[in-house]
Amino acid sequence: MSLKKAYEQFFSMGTSVSWSNMMSEEAKAELKKHYSSITAENGMKPMFFLDEKENLANPEKYHECPALHFESPRIYLDFAKESGIPLRGHVLVWHSQTPMWFFKEKYSKEEDAPWASREIMLTRMENYIKGVLEFVQTEYPGVVYAWDVVNEAVEERGQQGWRQWSGWYQSIGEDFLIHAYRFARKYAAPGVKLFYNDYNTFDTFKKDFIVENILKPLIAEGLVDGMGMQSHLVLNDLDLDGYKQALYKYGGLGLEIQVTELDIHNNDPSEDGLNKLAEAYSELFHILLDAKKNGKANVTNVTIWGMKDDESWLTDFRKETSYSLLFGNNYEPKAAYQAVIDAVK
Ligand code: G3I
Repeated sequence: MSLKKAYEQFFSMGTSVSWSNMMSEEAKAELKKHYSSITAENGMKPMFFLDEKENLANPEKYHECPALHFESPRIYLDFAKESGIPLRGHVLVWHSQTPMWFFKEKYSKEEDAPWASREIMLTRMENYIKGVLEFVQTEYPGVVYAWDVVNEAVEERGQQGWRQWSGWYQSIGEDFLIHAYRFARKYAAPGVKLFYNDYNTFDTFKKDFIVENILKPLIAEGLVDGMGMQSHLVLNDLDLDGYKQALYKYGGLGLEIQVTELDIHNNDPSEDGLNKLAEAYSELFHILLDAKKNGKANVTNVTIWGMKDDESWLTDFRKETSYSLLFGNNYEPKAAYQAVIDAVK
């Protein structure tokens, strides 16, 4: 049974894909079998679109309109186009994986170089979004069905508010966010969905901050279509009740909900550990399915953050081997995979 087939009447099933997945026939066969959505794990982030060599060599020329190049993103778009698997665009405006020089006057790499002015950064933002969207929509029409327009604009804990050390916040101020959505709406093809995406979206303070300061103002201007709950969870620290409350709260705003980066960190590869992981996935998918069926949240996609355990970012991040995904190192289905399939039966 394939994941996409099992869930087709409820929501699409996705996975993140890496450069090496795009080089592997085995990975591509798995993608075609199981998934109805893909997200480039890294390769469509600003650092891959921004042409460092060109911008730094000619800062005056590109002062307002940064030079872009498209080699890295193409590999994902080509695969999506050939395979017919729709792609979630990740990500246009983010503090991370966007080079620091991009935010600086004259694209300077000096550590204490001043931020570019608000006007210049708004212009660079508009031209960046325009350039990326026009490239994708001209050369790959219909392939990218949604974009994470802004990612992770809020601090770890919501009571700290906006992530102030972001280059976007520093150079423009907190209204960088609404401007990003105005530009994205202006250049996105009709039907392309615009998302706000963040992690720990079930944290009480963070959830309230996102709803009041981000989603409601965006909704008032018709600028957002969906909320992305990344969902990097931890097996030994799960609060699925809180997760459900957050899901219902975002869903209650009338937005589409996508679970954009699901994984459940688990450091125990024993049968017991893998069964506990399976139970957690089962419970989570029951929550998502119930929400969809009850009309509490219009879940339209669930994306797993990685195709198999040994490719998960978590091992590096947590400094211990993580057995967090649905498939083992040889794509063998784990108990967690079976639990996800069983949840929908
Ligand atoms: O490609 C280089 C390689 O050449 C070099 O040898 C190696 C040495 O560290 O680094 C490689 O780059 C790494 C890159 O992933 C590709 O594997 C970076 O160091 C590493 O920082 C980067 O991590 C990515 C992370 O975003 C960066 O913030 C993860 O793969 C990716 O899974 C993760 O994804 C994010 C989402 O975009 C947003 N939400 C959170 C999520 C998890 O952090």
